[in-house]
Amino acid sequence: MYAKFHSIGAYVPSTVLSNADLEKMVDTSDEWILKRTGIRERRIARDDEVTSDMAKIASEIAIKRAGLNHSDIDLIVCATVTPDYFNMPSTACVIADKLGIKDVQAFDISAACSGFVYALSVAKAFIESGMKRHVLIIGAEKFSSIVDYTDRSTCILFGDGAGASVISATNDKSEAIIDIHASADGAYSDFLVTPAPGSVNPLSQRVLDEGLNFVQMKGNETFKLAVKTLTKDVKEILSDNNIDAKDIPHFVPHQANYRIIKAVGGALKMTKEQVVLTVDKYGNTSAASIPMAINDIYEAGRLKKGELMLLDTFGGGLTWASALLPFSGDNL
Ligand code: ACO
Repeated sequence: MYAKFHSIGAYVPSTVLSNADLEKMVDTSDEWILKRTGIRERRIARDDEVTSDMAKIASEIAIKRAGLNHSDIDLIVCATVTPDYFNMPSTACVIADKLGIKDVQAFDISAACSGFVYALSVAKAFIESGMKRHVLIIGAEKFSSIVDYTDRSTCILFGDGAGASVISATNDKSEAIIDIHASADGAYSDFLVTPAPGSVNPLSQRVLDEGLNFVQMKGNETFKLAVKTLTKDVKEILSDNNIDAKDIPHFVPHQANYRIIKAVGGALKMTKEQVVLTVDKYGNTSAASIPMAINDIYEAGRLKKGELMLLDTFGGGLTWASALLPFSGDNL
């Protein structure tokens, strides 16, 4: 039994937060943001729109595009670091309810920007072991809920959104996910952190006064490690599978910073046409970034059945992951 990437769907909130808007909020400039990150604008969810709402819409599209009914889904894995609730229930359980799916295994994954590829590895394992047939994996973030919009070093980077995919069982090896690498090094856990709420810093007046509920990042250190780790990781997965970078039509890196993407794409000698880029219009949507990017090329008619994708991501934890797989859904 093999696991195939059966479909893709995404949800993009309608409110645009542009660099010009941010110029009015913090001491920054469109020129600085564009030069250092490649971001022009990002999308922000409405106040009444939560992570599970965005995930639900992306999931409905993905299930429909897989030609399945909601009741066919036998596992839901949601990757998010901005869950509906920080303790319980899991966002995956809330999504199951919003989709009307009963009696289904459902849980969340916390791996920051690497979450979607981590979820892909879980789906692959469940399917290859014969435990499940159709796994709904989701990357969804309302990152605006943990961003301090007075901190110019982080508020310019992040956006909201969701992406989802159905991973299904197949006997046809040519459709199968080829390989996934996923790893972590907790020694760098202080590079990207939301200090509260949690058992280290339970919710208190001090937490609110010190803004410990907001994301904190050692940007420059993270940047350097991201370039090094991502480059090594993609080179390894390609050589392990005897595939040349020039034979990958779609390199879909995590959309954190154009300079990181350019450095990794350059190390692989990829052409501009091979590298999928959405960071300019969505910013960094953490776990949602890769499925939103895949959905973009799918809806643009650029991703066709059987074409190879190389996914590559890096995020808080620190975590990183890469995947090599054909797109095995129907053409739009
Ligand atoms: N506008 C203007 N100036 C700014 C801004 C801003 N928005 N933000 C920072 N600066 C200033 C700093 O204060 C600093 O000034 P100084 O030299 O006077 O001290 C200067 O710009 C340079 O700051 P750096 O942090 O060194 O800038 P850098 O070139 O590293 O860019 C950035 C910062 C964009 C955050 C970059 O480091 C980055 O993209 N890091 C990686 C992010 C990432 O990949 N994260 C992982 C995934 S996220 C996740 O998992 C949730």
